[in-house]
Amino acid sequence: MDVKGRVALVTGSSRGIGKATALMLAEKGCNVVVNYVKNREKAEMVSEEARRLGVDSMALKADVSKYDEVEKMVEAILSRFGRIDILVNNAGIISRHVNLLEVGEDEWDELIDVNLKGAFNCCKAVVPHMIRQRFGRIVNVSSIAGRAGGVAGAHYAASKAGLIGLTFSLASELARYGITVNAVAPTAVETDMLEALRGSLDWIVSVTPLGRIAKPEEVAHAILFLIENDFITAEVVDVNGGRYPS
Ligand SMILES: NC(=O)c1ccc[n+]([C@@H]2O[C@H](COP(=O)([O-])OP(=O)(O)OC[C@H]3O[C@@H](n4cnc5c(N)ncnc54)[C@H](OP(=O)(O)O)[C@@H]3O)[C@@H](O)[C@H]2O)c1
Repeated sequence: MDVKGRVALVTGSSRGIGKATALMLAEKGCNVVVNYVKNREKAEMVSEEARRLGVDSMALKADVSKYDEVEKMVEAILSRFGRIDILVNNAGIISRHVNLLEVGEDEWDELIDVNLKGAFNCCKAVVPHMIRQRFGRIVNVSSIAGRAGGVAGAHYAASKAGLIGLTFSLASELARYGITVNAVAPTAVETDMLEALRGSLDWIVSVTPLGRIAKPEEVAHAILFLIENDFITAEVVDVNGGRYPS
């Protein structure tokens, strides 16, 4: 599938992996919607950079954990572009606490609401339009934590494992409409989120055969591959330098 002329919503694309993904799509001629929750200026800059690459782009604020905000964002996209072909559920947060006994109920709820319910909300709002189009590409940004647990805590791992379950289930539910649903599962990536993993970085690198962490563009590249391929669905692509024992 050629992404040229298509319309993509990349959640959480003001920074990090989402930004790299939005710009890689724009480089290929895809119109991109840059979603953010706090950093309007950064999102506008990404959108501006995409327009300089020759595509149409706009930045839209929406907290993915709130369905009414997601619904408004999708309405705004449809009124500007008339369609949504690609949804990358990338927006995510990590938590301050990692030990189960330190994680409060509020912290659990907030993290699950953004990382897992956020993807549900976006799928729920976007999928009816993809069904109408008889075409769609959905990629969920999971994590090695969703495959193997890890240093970011049980709530983070559970949210990312939940995304893998969501991926498998939606892939089989939506295949008949020409919609593919896949996920990527990166190891630590050079983004702002890394700050929370600083103390574990040496260990992560030491157990990674390729001997380093990932660059955002390397994750974006895997996302693009899943979007462009017409016959891969229900797949989780590890982007982890060989770390996961798969
Ligand atoms: N970095 C890693 O080591 C790593 C590894 C594996 C998986 N991942 C996953 O990859 C995804 C992107 O991570 P990243 O490292 O690129 O993170 P990042 O640099 O911290 O960027 C997070 C992005 O998500 C947005 N966001 C946060 N909460 C949101 C909400 N409620 N609604 C809408 N947008 C929201 C942020 O918007 P604002 O700028 O407006 O705050 C920002 O654009 C996440 O799902 C993360 O769990 C990251």
